[in-house]
Amino acid sequence: MKGIILAGGAGSRLYPLTLVASKQLQPVYDKPMVYYPLATMIENGVREFCLISTPHDLPRFEQLLGNGSAWGLSIEYRAQPKPQGIAQAFLIAESFIGSDSISLILGDNIFYAGDSFRAAFDQFRSGAVVFGYHVHDPERYGVVEFDSQGCAVSIEEKPQQPKSNYAVPGLYIYDNQVVEITKSLRPSARGELEITDVNVTYLQRRQLQVHRLNRGFAWLDAGTSSSLHDASAYVQTIERRQGIKIGCPEEAALHRGFISLAHLEKISTEMPNCEYRDYLLNVCAEAKRTPVLGTASE
Ligand code: DAU
Repeated sequence: MKGIILAGGAGSRLYPLTLVASKQLQPVYDKPMVYYPLATMIENGVREFCLISTPHDLPRFEQLLGNGSAWGLSIEYRAQPKPQGIAQAFLIAESFIGSDSISLILGDNIFYAGDSFRAAFDQFRSGAVVFGYHVHDPERYGVVEFDSQGCAVSIEEKPQQPKSNYAVPGLYIYDNQVVEITKSLRPSARGELEITDVNVTYLQRRQLQVHRLNRGFAWLDAGTSSSLHDASAYVQTIERRQGIKIGCPEEAALHRGFISLAHLEKISTEMPNCEYRDYLLNVCAEAKRTPVLGTASE
């Protein structure tokens, strides 16, 4: 399965931070925001990426992530000149998607999920899979309603009167119908091709699965200066307590077997002297003591 990272938008709620660097390049504690969704996708086995951002910000992402080969990935870049909706990503990336299935993650969505998404990715065959996460303010999101059997019966975008507390986070998995479905959509009242309209179409075709995410799963918002600060504090708390990093693409790539231990050691020693480098070298040392499952052979 291929992956799209959508990292455009004006970032106006973070002004003036976003005057010189886009929202998804802002630091969340010790690394750029986009590392988190990228690591989430790698953890779930995605290796081929298309990153979409504004024509203005795209060169910065290219500078940061390159063509992905250092991490055993391939990353292509496409521009979205105007933020005309999340679903527009499938039109922009149509030639990248080709005849494959596709997962999309929003570049500002931070998950601390363990292996919560793993089964959904591994078992995906056709249709669409989205997730449901209990929140106190569902009216800010796409909201999914379940029947007594736990099956999704409706999805609404930012409803004034939400039918449940389950918001749909910004991680979606689709089969190849998504391109044709998006082409049939009309822009919403806010002038966007809505991802919720894509999900509603799959629901109407009886091809949408909604996986409810259980308690103990963290989905963080980093869209305002306060929530960005909160997300940093959360990451710092977990990382300090556990001595592990959240959102570390190099480590995720090692665990998925996309890069070898020798390669990780090589790229780590090439980094300037910093905590991130020390951490990765420690990951290498630990992996030598306790081999990581799925590590690529040398
Ligand atoms: O965060 C999950 C929510 O994301 C879902 O529950 C909603 O169903 C979905 O519509 C979306 O909600 P928002 O309308 O609040 O998303 P927002 O406009 O803030 O865009 C989310 C991210 O995607 C943001 O970092 C900017 C980027 N984006 C957005 C649009 C509309 C783009 O790169 N291009 C776009 O055209």
